[in-house]
Formats: sequence, C-alpha cells, structure tokens
Amino acid sequence: MKVTIVGTGYVGLVTGACLAELGNDVFCLDSDADKVALLQAGGMPIYEPGLQEIVQRNVEEGRLLFSSDVKASVAFGDVQFIAVGTPPRDDGSADLSCVFDAARAIGRHMDRFRVVVQKSTVPVGTAEQVARLVRAELQAHGKDLDFSVVSNPEFLKEGAAVQDFMAPDRIVVGADDDLPGRRALALLRQLYAPVNRNQERLRVMDVRSAELTKYAANAMLATRISFMNELANLADCLGADIELVRQGIGSDPRIGYSFLQAGAGYGGSCFPKDVDALCRTAQSSGTRLAVLEAVQSANLRQKQVLLDKVLAHFGGDLRGRTIAVLGLAFKPDTDDMREAPSRALVAGLLRAGARVVAHDPVAREQAQRALEHDLAGEPQLLAQLGYVERPTSALEGADAVVIVTEWRHYRTLSASLLKRSMRTPLVFDGRNLLDPHQLASQGVACVGIGRSNLSLLREADAPTPPARQLALPKKKVRAES
Ligand code: UDX
Repeated sequence: MKVTIVGTGYVGLVTGACLAELGNDVFCLDSDADKVALLQAGGMPIYEPGLQEIVQRNVEEGRLLFSSDVKASVAFGDVQFIAVGTPPRDDGSADLSCVFDAARAIGRHMDRFRVVVQKSTVPVGTAEQVARLVRAELQAHGKDLDFSVVSNPEFLKEGAAVQDFMAPDRIVVGADDDLPGRRALALLRQLYAPVNRNQERLRVMDVRSAELTKYAANAMLATRISFMNELANLADCLGADIELVRQGIGSDPRIGYSFLQAGAGYGGSCFPKDVDALCRTAQSSGTRLAVLEAVQSANLRQKQVLLDKVLAHFGGDLRGRTIAVLGLAFKPDTDDMREAPSRALVAGLLRAGARVVAHDPVAREQAQRALEHDLAGEPQLLAQLGYVERPTSALEGADAVVIVTEWRHYRTLSASLLKRSMRTPLVFDGRNLLDPHQLASQGVACVGIGRSNLSLLREADAPTPPARQLALPKKKVRAES
C-alpha cells in the first residue's frame, strides 16, 4: 500500500519506518529540510533502539522516502497519516495549527479518495475539525471528492516503540459508519493486517471514542503511578516497604504489576501533557475530573521528593558537596528530557550549592540544553555541573549518589564499588533500583522512595558502617515524607 506520513517526529518516524518494514511504500513529509536530508542519508534525529537500522534498510531498498514536497506527499499515499507535533500553548492547551495546516494541504492537493488518519494525540473532536478543513479546501478548489478522517491513536512507549508497533496490544481505529468511513476502515484493516495478531488486536469504534481512548489510557497509567508514589510517601512515614506492598497488591489479577513502580515522578512528552489536556477538556465540557487533577498535582510534588530527601540529609546546605546524579532522561532507553524529573533535581542540587557530576548513557546533550533553559538566569550554577562518560567516574569522591533514571547500567552498582569510590557511600535511589536491605548489610546507606525507613531501620544491623552513614537523620527523613 502507498502511505504518506506527515511529520517525522517521534510518532511519525516510527510509524513510517515500521510500515515500510512491513512492505508498504512510505513517503515521509517534513518541512525541516535539514532533518529530511539527515534521514534520507541514514542519520537519526532521535535515539530509539532498533529504529535507525529499519530506516536505513528501507531507504536503501527504496520503500521509505523523506521529502519536504507537500504536493508530492498528498499525491503519493492512499492513506495520509497526520503525525505532526501538537505542542502545549502558554495556557496549556494543545497548539493544533500544524494538524490543521496538514488537513488544508491534503484538501488542496488531493485528486482522488483519501483516508486521513489522525495519529497525533489531539483533543476529542479534532478529527471532525480536520474533516471540515479538508472539505472546505475541496470546495474552495471546486473538487467533489470523497474522503474519510479516521482516528488511530498511537500507544508507543519511547525506548520500546518499534516493538510496540510490530506487536501491539491493540490497534484502536475510530471511523465513521458511512460509506467513506467503511472504505477507510477496510484500508486500515489491510494496512495493519501483518501486526493484527489472531485478528484480535483491532478495536473499531466511533471517532470520538477513539480520541478519548488515547487520553483515558495515559490518564489511567499516570493515576496508578501517582497513587503508588503517594503510598510510597506514606510507607516512608510508617516504616513499610512499598516494593513489598507492590508485590502484594500486584499479584491480584484485578490489579496486576504494571505501572505500579514508585519513583521520582513520571515525565515524558505524554503523561504530563495528556493528563493536563484531559483535565482541561473536562472543565471546558462543564465537568471535572477531580481524581485526575489530584494525579497531576501529586506528580508535581513527587518530583521534589528525591531532592527533599537529599536536602534533609545534608541539612539543606550542599555547599562544598559533590553529588553524583545517575540518569537524566525521563526514562531509560531514550534521550528525551521532556518533563524529566532529573531537571528539577539537578537545578535544586545546584541551587543548594552542590557540585553535580552527572551521567546518562545517551541524553547528555539534551540534558545540557534542557538545563540551560531551566537555569537561564543563573549561568553561574551551570558552571558547577559536569558530565562524565562512565557511571563509575561520577562516583569518584562524591558525597552522595542520586539515581534518577533506571538505566540498566546502574543495576550493577555494588556496595564495594560505592565504598571504594565515594567519599561517603550514600545512595538516594529515586527508582528503587537497588536493594537497600542488602546495601545496608554491607555498610552502604540507601534511601529509596517508600523504602528509606527500611534501610535506616536495618542500618543498625550493618557491619561497622562508616560514621557519616550512621548520621542519616531519621527524624528529618520522616518529617519530610
Ligand atoms: C507513554 C505510554 O506508555 C504510551 O502508551 C503512550 O503512547 C505515550 O506515553 P512513554 O511516555 O514513552 O509512553 O513512557 P512510559 O514507559 O509509559 O513511562 C512514562 C513515565 O512514567 C516515565 O517517566 C516513567 O519513569 C514513569 N513510570 C512508569 C513510573 O514512574 N512508574 C511506573 O511504574 C511506570
């Protein structure tokens, strides 16, 4: 099948590359000529495991093309995916101007039946607006052509996007129940047939329900995370271990284990934006999503928890201290720094006077840009921020290490390494990656999220721990929870 993808951002690029890999001819349109040239030459504007190989192979084999030629892009694909960015405006609402520009261009240039697939995450009702714009352009150019606008939201996780596309849990398609809508649905069934395992992955529904499904999925996942984060903070106060609680409740199949990992708060381009957008949609529809509003504010608070634990330990003053920060991207296997919890943490450490030595396997440049933005008025603080190539180098002489992103590289940090390298073997584990009980028994204090009291309580059993480690202020950690 011939497919056009409008926008080679994260979603557009993964979708285009994977559809080409499945044997379709794919035309990817982007207005950024430099990006088009980079992709056409086999380069990669983002870090996503497995994507570069797929792009290179399909470009070489002639199934995947990148271009800035709008007219040619509309002429090419029977199916036109709109996968452009919808950045938040100052008031938090989604800026849909790129979606609407794409819709107008399709209407202006189309010369036969087209399926327009709304792939970007957009407020409920946007597909109807897209249809109106296509129709208006057709009329303005005196064309009487059929088309259908379909909602087909993406559920790709950064770091696992290729796998998510090739083996989806579900493929949601919202289509109108009219002749063009049924024709569109038939084309999408054909397009997705190779990944529609057992013919049971496709969920067909009306357009508005499909648009809402995307928000509902992310809102549900964000709710689980915020709920667990709040329980973790309570566990800190009670001396319970949130990891054991997670296992205890996750074993109930009605609850399940996924997305119950307490941590430093959720980030990324989707959860914060989509939760915010759904709250707004509810408000503008005359109702309220009180639970979701609380989810959002709980997450903002959670992003401070790790910093508060560090500050509480050092009495609020980090002057003369060196803090190692491991992991900067909002999650592993991505270089994405959007809404990353590390941003507030690093800024807070620097503002409290610390020298910060950071490591991230891939997000270093993006992190530097993000922090330059966040600390725009405080350039002197940036001078106290350095990066290292290896996690072990970050530990050298550090007063504490803070794990913010659970890259697999950090799972192997051992007590002996921490004791050998650091000035004080003290870990603040923002992703509950390490076993605080085991570390404590080997003389390393490890303060997790919802498990720090466990570590502190059992510290008493630790064999001859260094003096500073025993000085972990139990009262302060409790008070700040
Ligand atoms: C999410 C959705 O999972 C995906 O379906 C949608 O298409 C886009 O948004 P993504 O933002 O790539 O994907 O990352 P995800 O793996 O969902 O994690 C989001 C955030 O939640 C990360 O900051 C992660 O660290 C955090 N998280 C996740 C937790 O804090 N605890 C968990 O148990 C799971």
